[in-house]
Amino acid sequence: MDNFAARYHIRHYTPTDMPAVLHVFKRSIYKIGSRYYNHEQIDAWAAASLDLHAWEQRLNSGVVLVATFEKTVTGFIRFEPTGKIDLIYIHPNYEHQGIASALLHKIERLAEQQRIPRLFTLASEASKDFFTAKGYRFIGEQDVEKRGIKLRNHRMEKDITELAAAGGGAIRHQLASH
Ligand SMILES: CC(C)(COP(=O)(O)OP(=O)(O)OC[C@H]1O[C@@H](n2cnc3c(N)ncnc32)[C@H](O)[C@@H]1OP(=O)(O)O)[C@@H](O)C(=O)NCCC(=O)NCCS
Repeated sequence: MDNFAARYHIRHYTPTDMPAVLHVFKRSIYKIGSRYYNHEQIDAWAAASLDLHAWEQRLNSGVVLVATFEKTVTGFIRFEPTGKIDLIYIHPNYEHQGIASALLHKIERLAEQQRIPRLFTLASEASKDFFTAKGYRFIGEQDVEKRGIKLRNHRMEKDITELAAAGGGAIRHQLASH
């Protein structure tokens, strides 16, 4: 899409984004995730969207950024001060346009500012090539169980600074000034 980068925007999540974020989560799993996992696994993965209380808690802690295009939420990322990239999902209508790259870049810069030396994630089959392309190294794979169904994921890490970890308490504040 022409001049796409100029028209999309990254900002902090606000509670009114929750329905849009859940919509992206489900569409991303059903359309992108289903290229890598079977029906049973996809249903088990997407079922997490039903627990609204858990989502509310998750989205209101850590750092959650949303990408928007003409006010529509096209993707989101969640990051914890431990260095964990916990969620990164892009709406299938907007994949391969650099949105996940932009979200991850923003988080990596914040982590750097916070002297968090290493980022890690438990990458799905549907995101491991993305993380590899972004310089994350494969550490190991494991099966996680969701609703009694096993899904394979991959622990991936990236060293972003040689500095010792100094915690991540003020990330929100840091982002606000950018
Ligand atoms: C992984 C995901 C977040 C990538 O989002 P995206 O916005 O399409 O990614 P980008 O456009 O920034 O991609 C950057 C690069 O990553 C790589 N990449 C992205 N998706 C890829 C894929 N499915 N297969 C292989 N490489 C991929 C490519 O090198 C790409 O560069 P290119 O577009 O020039 O080829 C998206 O596919 C997604 O939402 N997947 C399903 C949800 C998921 O599994 N989330 C992780 C849970 S742990």
